[in-house]
Amino acid sequence: MKSRLYSLVIFATTLAMAAAVAVTAAEAAKKKRDPGKRAYMRNTCIACHGRNGRGAMLDYPNLAGQDAKYMRAQIKDIMAGKRKGSPDPTGNPRSEGMRGALVTPEGEPRITAKQIKDIVAWLAKQKPAAPTPPEKPIAAERIKAGEKLYKKKCRSCHGKKAMKPLKGYPIIAGQKHAYLVTQMQDIKTKARTNGKSKLMLSTVKKLSDDDIAMLADYLSQIDRTKK
Ligand code: HEC
Ligand code: HEC
Repeated sequence: MKSRLYSLVIFATTLAMAAAVAVTAAEAAKKKRDPGKRAYMRNTCIACHGRNGRGAMLDYPNLAGQDAKYMRAQIKDIMAGKRKGSPDPTGNPRSEGMRGALVTPEGEPRITAKQIKDIVAWLAKQKPAAPTPPEKPIAAERIKAGEKLYKKKCRSCHGKKAMKPLKGYPIIAGQKHAYLVTQMQDIKTKARTNGKSKLMLSTVKKLSDDDIAMLADYLSQIDRTKK
């Protein structure tokens, strides 16, 4: 009697263990199969925007943890040639490389709307990049002054600590310094006019080059990995 009960317990335990293993295996497979991640890898996004949307090359933007709706609109605008940007060091518009990767020379998209939707949903869930350490140390007073200017001129749209923007607006905290500067300059000089960027024009028009650099000093050092 006793040994029968014992084997029943063993049997039940084995079943429970097998079920647990099956669940973790299914979870792992699901992770691997995330269609957004797969499409991100297959469509060369990773080559420019880095693994999991972090550690993008040159002054290209990090995308991990960015707002999905915002990203979708930007991808569409870049593919349609509506967001070009100022010339990069090679003399081509900043977004030209991405457009070339996603649109054929005949103007046919190489990526479907569904893939774009999956990619941005996956990217938005990824852990944001840690701040890139500055080339030269930034004085604490300068960061403070950048924060003060941010609160006065930018917070109404980009939100508290630049992390809680209005719906569909970009999160700019922790973004790369050089990218932040080029975008502010491009919006100021109207090299970038797509989407809602005109809403920012009257604000950035009044900023000096040093104001812009100081804002980027503050914004680029906000650590989104610590909440
Ligand atoms: C050849 C390099 C390259 C490839 C490939 C590429 N991108 Fe980009 N991407 C860029 C650059 C550079 C910019 C910034 C353009 C600018 O400065 O105006 C950008 C901008 C973006 C933005 C806007 C970010 C923001 O904060 O405004 C999104 C979203 C984006 N890319 C997503 C993707 C996705 C998704 C893929 C793959 C389907 C992809 N990119 C492929 C280089 C690339
Ligand atoms: C009236 C609202 C508004 C104000 C004020 C505003 N912004 Fe923006 N900003 C936006 C919107 C909307 C976008 C996205 C534009 C688009 O749709 O392409 C944007 C885009 C940006 C970008 C580019 C983000 C990216 O990922 O490419 C940066 C950087 C930025 N803003 C910084 C600032 C700073 C710094 C200030 C304050 C000096 C500021 N903005 C003030 C609305 C605003």
